[in-house]
Amino acid sequence: MNILLLGSGGREHALAWKIAQSPKTSQLYIAPGNAGTAQVGTNVPIKADDFDTIRDFVLEHKVDMVVVGPEDPLVKGIYDYFKADPHLAAVPVIGPSRQGAVLEGSKDYAKAFMQRHHIPTAAYRTFTGDTLEEGKAFLRTLQPPYVLKADGLCAGKGVLILPTLEEAERELEEMLGGMFGNASSRVVIEEFMAGIECSVFVLTDGRHYAILPEAKDYKRIGEGDTGLNTGGMGSVSPVPFADKEWMAKVENRIIRPTVEGLAEEGIDYHGFIFFGLINVDGDPKVIEYNVRMGDPETETVMLRLKTDLVELFQAVAENRLDDCKVETDARSAVCVMLVSGGYPGAYGKGYPITGLDQVEGSVVFHAGTSLKDGQVVTAGGRVMAVSSYGSTKAEALAKSFAEAQKINFEKKYFRSDIGADL
Ligand code: AMP
Ligand code: GLY
Repeated sequence: MNILLLGSGGREHALAWKIAQSPKTSQLYIAPGNAGTAQVGTNVPIKADDFDTIRDFVLEHKVDMVVVGPEDPLVKGIYDYFKADPHLAAVPVIGPSRQGAVLEGSKDYAKAFMQRHHIPTAAYRTFTGDTLEEGKAFLRTLQPPYVLKADGLCAGKGVLILPTLEEAERELEEMLGGMFGNASSRVVIEEFMAGIECSVFVLTDGRHYAILPEAKDYKRIGEGDTGLNTGGMGSVSPVPFADKEWMAKVENRIIRPTVEGLAEEGIDYHGFIFFGLINVDGDPKVIEYNVRMGDPETETVMLRLKTDLVELFQAVAENRLDDCKVETDARSAVCVMLVSGGYPGAYGKGYPITGLDQVEGSVVFHAGTSLKDGQVVTAGGRVMAVSSYGSTKAEALAKSFAEAQKINFEKKYFRSDIGADL
């Protein structure tokens, strides 16, 4: 099969790495990809949301399947674009329809969906500029800290957690006043939940689902989970508290009702669902849905997935995911993200990366890299994920930290406490 993967981050390098291992894959194209995806497939200089150019490429290169990495093309309706075009309709797109992608594209929609299907999540209400005073009154009924969420996509920046009522009221006013543009014209206020987070992933064909290995990511820039939020500084899989009993709760209370809810509501969904969960006194609750894989979770999940990913994708496209069994590697997998100093604030780009040829026994997934005159250089804040196996989490971490020392670029930084909290 000829496969086109859309996206350019560490998640996409990890997906490409796994897709390239399948005997079913003949050509793998990545649009636009990075210096890492170029090692396992062919990069094509097309933006992941340039649907018309993607269309031409798919027809010209006889692409048999499109796999969507990031949420953007999904929220913009790439699935529907293919379905509506007689020349593309037979090419499966792995990713939900535009209607399914609203689960990530609108927090209010996702909360209402969960409520309709009795899926455990924090109590909430949604407010607009017209109901600002009611919003403030609702805040006064809650206990601190206060959780405010812009309804729309804000590149991971739309959630504020505020320690005092005064700050919460002020930020609510700012958000509704256009702090995140149109994305915060509606704001979800919800109850704060205390616990440890866990990311659970499934593939679904809209009726059946296959559960992939779970993972935990580390979002803050600083050690001990301090400082600004990032796209993710590392991940570990498995997650110790996500044992058989906990995962049975997740499946029965969250995964199954979600997939049944999608089917009941006639929502066409052939792709990944990422359940952002929190463990509240032993009970899983949903923080958010994403309609794609997580990054940097994919950089450990793909290491632990033994089943052929292309076979799973084919089963998704052909609505026979109930035929598939997911096999998982019993080992631990971790990844440590190397970032450019200054990130998530301002940082430089174009720094040459050396030492990659010294790395042994770990898999280095590129996130923000590009090739300049044959040299791999930094091209983003998150630069690369050093992913390793171990018979224990500690062993895998020791391996990733050791290999991370061998890779060098100006102002390299990584967190040396990934996995230490579990
Ligand atoms: P989200 O974009 O919805 O994943 O939120 C970003 C982060 O904010 C999450 O990963 C959590 O760490 C935190 N968060 C969001 N909602 C809540 C909540 N209701 N209670 C506690 N923490 C939350
Ligand atoms: N690691 C969280 C995300 O991909 O949104």
